[in-house]
Amino acid sequence: MEAQTPTARRHWLVEFYGSTVGKKWVMAITGVILMGFVVFHMIGNLKVFVPPVDGELEINLYGEWLRSVLFPALPHYVFLWILRLGLIVATVLHVEAMISLTRRNAAAKPQGYTKQEFQAASYASRTMRLTGPLVLAFVIFHLADLTWGIAPFNPDFIHGDVANNLTASLTRAGWVFFYAVANIALGYHLWHGLWSMFQSLGLNNPRYNAARRLFAQAVTVIVVGGNLLILAGVFFGFAPGI
Ligand code: HEM
Repeated sequence: MEAQTPTARRHWLVEFYGSTVGKKWVMAITGVILMGFVVFHMIGNLKVFVPPVDGELEINLYGEWLRSVLFPALPHYVFLWILRLGLIVATVLHVEAMISLTRRNAAAKPQGYTKQEFQAASYASRTMRLTGPLVLAFVIFHLADLTWGIAPFNPDFIHGDVANNLTASLTRAGWVFFYAVANIALGYHLWHGLWSMFQSLGLNNPRYNAARRLFAQAVTVIVVGGNLLILAGVFFGFAPGI
């Protein structure tokens, strides 16, 4: 008889990470981190509406502050890079969890699904699969435009002058249109993502449906509404802070 090799026991965290429930938690936690970023990013960018004090533009001061959080305890940029690494890791894990959940769903699709159930589920997941990559593509374009200032994207970019860079970028109609479309896609993604997050974590007691719906709608309307207002303010010239 052949001897059986004992299977090495993996740490419970590794085990959990590999499970379907674990992937759903990863999706939810990283989604909430990314949501937190877009909420704070929008609030920070509302400084375009704050008139300058003593000739100083608050949006530029805010950019400088972000680069020097915890200075001199930490050198410039260190804290910002910790935040950036957190965002990069959250994005990678969010996408990885989505890919493995999609593969598992496809492999386990029950034969007895009613046509209606299948259509409803696939409509929601199809739109998530469309808006997710669109938002990711937008972020890369947006970094090239307003963070790295790569010449073909933003030829008048000046490092550290956020107000100048915003004006140079968002006074071009095509750019503003793309930013608006991407923000609407982000809104859809947030709305559906926040709503289904509770469902997939099993926190779906019908008693709290109204509260869940309100939460998903409020976050979406605040983020997308704020971003569209900023776009309009820069494009139509009613943002005194730039
Ligand atoms: C109207 C909407 C938006 C405006 C006006 C805007 C503006 C800006 C500006 C000016 C910067 C550069 C900041 C600096 O150099 O100090 C920036 C960076 C960034 N934005 Fe946006 N943004 C918008 C929407 C978004 C959205 C919807 C996302 C994500 C889905 C996003 C993700 C980022 C990221 C990841 C960075 C890089 C942050 C870093 O340097 O660490 N932005 N944005």
